[in-house]
Amino acid sequence: VCLLDQTKLPLKEKYLECFDYQSIAKAIKEMRIRGAPAIGVAAAFGIALAAQNSTAKTLDEFLVEVREATSVLSRTRPTAVNLFRAINRMINILQTNKNTDVLTLKRLLKKEAEAIAQEEEEMSQRMGEYGATLVRKGANILTHCNAGALATVDLGTALAVIRKAHEQGKKVHVYADETRPLLQGARLTTWELIKEGIPTTLICDNMAGFLMQQGKVDLILVGADRIAANGDVANKIGTYSLAVLAREHQVPFYVVAPTSTIDLAIANGNEIPIEERSATEVTMIAGQRIAPEEVNIYNPAFDITPARYISAIVTDRGIIRPPYTKNLAKILS
Ligand code: MRU
Repeated sequence: VCLLDQTKLPLKEKYLECFDYQSIAKAIKEMRIRGAPAIGVAAAFGIALAAQNSTAKTLDEFLVEVREATSVLSRTRPTAVNLFRAINRMINILQTNKNTDVLTLKRLLKKEAEAIAQEEEEMSQRMGEYGATLVRKGANILTHCNAGALATVDLGTALAVIRKAHEQGKKVHVYADETRPLLQGARLTTWELIKEGIPTTLICDNMAGFLMQQGKVDLILVGADRIAANGDVANKIGTYSLAVLAREHQVPFYVVAPTSTIDLAIANGNEIPIEERSATEVTMIAGQRIAPEEVNIYNPAFDITPARYISAIVTDRGIIRPPYTKNLAKILS
């Protein structure tokens, strides 16, 4: 499995070759691959790799090995539900084909991983098309973190909408938040948008409110890592502040996410596990210490935006408006 190492961007386009599930798990943990749909797809291929690599002589031994891979991969990152959904789909293949042989299972697992990737790609296309209907000509769009092709399989979620609007000749302009601590906006989103020739301005996170006050932002588009049944959204830390500011300044705030990101088993945002990452992500930038060694650090990687701040959720099955509890359940049924 070959991954573009996102920790090296934008300075180097370096591909990482993974020959076993352990290296995929490590790549997800270290955020060499990141973004909710992308880590789901990577985990599925990790499980397919574990199956391919197995030298088990019996079906029972094979199942033990593959299940170990599913358990290691599910302990990589806790917030994005896409990871668990993809792993569960792979486990389902094992469960529904109990009476077959190892060789057939190896083939079926690889096929399922490919299907998950293919479906994510198609969902990006459809989100892009639905979302572009919300974008008027000449719009200034603010986005946070990286919700692009790098975070998915192709096109992205929020960036799929931007790409479609650009393709339709809408002459959009994007403000990309840098997104501290890991700078996904500065390093990845601007890299993607510049490659596409989409006019982009990079801003520091703390500038977004002033831009809205100046009337420079027409709409905000962000991705999601998990959407609860009531429409509360977990996304990259800083999303919540943007949503509150958007309400104050009457700027539409849209979340763009595939249905694989919606988790109806979770009633509201309080139940979504929020990943905490290492202190060095905050104290260091590009290998350089920027804070005293002794300082206390808190580094939550995601926050929860309550549903009441969200103007609409753009999915691959259409645009969902409040009341979210009713309309999310309806679209998934
Ligand atoms: O920590 P990351 O970089 O994996 O966080 C990514 C995000 O928060 C994205 O906005 C989210 O995964 C949705 S983009 C498809």
